[in-house]
Amino acid sequence: MADNPLIIALDVENAAQALALVDAIGDAAGFYKVGMELYAAEGPAMVSALVERGKRVFLDLKYYDIPETVERAARRVAAGGASLLTVHAIKPVMEAAVRGAAGTGLGILAVTVLTSLDDRDLEEAGYAMGVTSLVEWRVRQAREVGVAGVVCSPLEVARVRKVAGQGLLLVTPGVRSAGADTGDQKRVATPAKAIAAGANHLVIGRQVTRAADPHAEVLRILAEIQTPA
Ligand code: C5P
Repeated sequence: MADNPLIIALDVENAAQALALVDAIGDAAGFYKVGMELYAAEGPAMVSALVERGKRVFLDLKYYDIPETVERAARRVAAGGASLLTVHAIKPVMEAAVRGAAGTGLGILAVTVLTSLDDRDLEEAGYAMGVTSLVEWRVRQAREVGVAGVVCSPLEVARVRKVAGQGLLLVTPGVRSAGADTGDQKRVATPAKAIAAGANHLVIGRQVTRAADPHAEVLRILAEIQTPA
């Protein structure tokens, strides 16, 4: 489907489970997120398997290392055919990743502040500002560095869009249809609201991957986005 904003998170243990889901979802989704768990189990072969099926891959590895290491790793990720890669929104880390991805089809996404952290965690880690200010600070830096986009919570997306301008992709996890099980997600918004607030892509995992019929669930979410309540 053209302009499909969904990225389905393949938070499963191995390639067999992941590809069974991808095959079940079929043409309803074309973009998949591979995170630390699946990448630890299957490595770059997982990316190749998805690319061979004509799918785009968002590699959510959240790199944070010295510039030389990040640049070289980003170059390898690009060669493997992924479309998006996350790094933490620390200036030298972002700059190195952008250098590594230069001239390739890979876009770098910056993770501003993990949604599991609150003001107290930041204070304990030595930061002089709270979550809201740090998110805005890092979005501004991400924009200056020239990353492709930023990962943000659906409850921050409108504010982040103001700081980010129209040029950055905003990719939003923590999205749930009204009435769906929220799992361990505390700060959620519906897909339609996240898109209306300015998100370009929605990352949805368990609502689809644990559905009795993942294909039907994706179609239901897409219909919901097109006809907001
Ligand atoms: O909750 P759900 O299964 O839809 O989560 C999908 C993906 O979103 C997961 O891979 C998780 O890593 C990511 N996520 C996130 N930030 C959150 C919640 C989930 O990046 N606050």
